[in-house]
Amino acid sequence: MRRPLIAGNWKMHKTAAEARELARAVALGCAGQDGLDVLLAPPYTALSAVAEIARPAGLLLAAQDMHWAEQGAFTGAISPGMVAEWASHVILGHSERRALFGETDIEVNRKLHAAFAQGLLPIICVGESAEQRDAGQADAVVAAQVVAAFEGIPADEAARAILAYEPVWAIGSGRACDPAEAARMMARLRAGLAERFDARTAQAMRLLYGGSVKPDNIRDYLAAADIDGALVGGASLGAESFNTLLRLSASAPPG
Ligand code: 13P
Repeated sequence: MRRPLIAGNWKMHKTAAEARELARAVALGCAGQDGLDVLLAPPYTALSAVAEIARPAGLLLAAQDMHWAEQGAFTGAISPGMVAEWASHVILGHSERRALFGETDIEVNRKLHAAFAQGLLPIICVGESAEQRDAGQADAVVAAQVVAAFEGIPADEAARAILAYEPVWAIGSGRACDPAEAARMMARLRAGLAERFDARTAQAMRLLYGGSVKPDNIRDYLAAADIDGALVGGASLGAESFNTLLRLSASAPPG
């Protein structure tokens, strides 16, 4: 049985003081809630502040990105070791990193190797653009991103990775992917992982849907057998909406 995971990606929102406040409210909101992993991904500058609240509350913590090198002359970047001081997880290959910062599949793969070497658990993001979907390339694009990200990664490591399917056109647009289509894409993803690795590895991996997830649609995604949780942007920025989303997820029947 895969444990559901709801992750809040705060992107470039929240000062350390604001992050502390939101983390406290989320910790209160999910106190006593069982059967669900909750993860927060604040900006780097708020990682230590949120860690102090997240650890005792049993919330997981992720950085939103990192460099693959252990250290060096990489102004503005942070290393896997720096992330690991505070967080257990790291988001890699988010479409905003790919589209706005020119991150390539090769870099995502380097970061994935570096995450495992550091003992960090990666949340790898894949997803097609609107143009790619309109051209009928969604399945192929996503499959190719997965193959490239996992190049050289052994099955026992892959089994511990989390994969997030986030169609680019659904992110921050309010145009959430139709749940049946998300379910189809993610069943394809899991089948692809079984081919690339083996059935056991594919079954062990948690797959998240991301893109305009809100309290009013979260249960439609969780109802799908291959959707094990969600990566949430906008709706994770307010305590009320995120806590509502967590409550709805904790009581959702298993997909
Ligand atoms: P939204 O939930 O704001 O669409 O963002 C999704 C996302 O990119 C999470 O990583």
